[in-house]
Amino acid sequence: MEIMQGKRTAILSAAAFAQHVNACEAIHLDIGTGDGRYAIHLAQANPQWLVIGLDACRENLISRSRNAPANALFIIANAGNLPVMLRGTAARVTVNFPWGSLLDGLLTARSSVIGGLAAACLPGARIDVLLNGGALAQAGRSLFDGACQMRDNLADAGFDVLRSANLDAAALRDIPTSWAKRLAFGRDPQGIHLTAAARARIHAACARSE
Ligand SMILES: C[S@@+](CC[C@H](N)C(=O)[O-])C[C@H]1O[C@@H](n2cnc3c(N)ncnc32)[C@H](O)[C@@H]1O
Repeated sequence: MEIMQGKRTAILSAAAFAQHVNACEAIHLDIGTGDGRYAIHLAQANPQWLVIGLDACRENLISRSRNAPANALFIIANAGNLPVMLRGTAARVTVNFPWGSLLDGLLTARSSVIGGLAAACLPGARIDVLLNGGALAQAGRSLFDGACQMRDNLADAGFDVLRSANLDAAALRDIPTSWAKRLAFGRDPQGIHLTAAARARIHAACARSE
């Protein structure tokens, strides 16, 4: 897997990744991590976890990966083609304010993004997806329709969707990601928070989508 450490990239071997995994209590995977602010926040707040921030755009990761805590890893990868090493590892997954191909993948039933996400989860893993109206409008959807589509796609991939909650400006201000702050003070401060849990048979579901 290709990882980012400041301006430098390196290849993390399976053996080195296994050492990280063995040293932690649980893995949290933040897909589309952007500048990594949320991943660093989680790693500092939960030193016993391994927090993996993953993004397709390496430039986003340069600044915060430079002085990341030892329990945070930043991986450069496309969510539609997740590294095989991540399979069956994550107890928690977040996708905060997806846009572009990440959002398109979540909106498309049985896409490689949905299949990869399901494959990365341990049975019972919790996934939280935060959506914002502007990104969905750019994808030609309303916030509500996009959230409904995503809920159906997650259910089809082997997740139980537990909750869907509206986010207003005050709620967005409290979320420790860079994009949440930007949205909270922007023109359209509204979003939806979906929470789901991976069913025990999730791997059968994700195998179907490959
Ligand atoms: C709006 S930003 C949100 C960043 C961060 N989660 C936050 O809340 O501040 C969306 C991020 O998704 C990433 N992204 C888009 N498509 C992706 C893909 N297919 N795979 C991985 N990351 C992707 C972008 O590079 C960008 O950093």
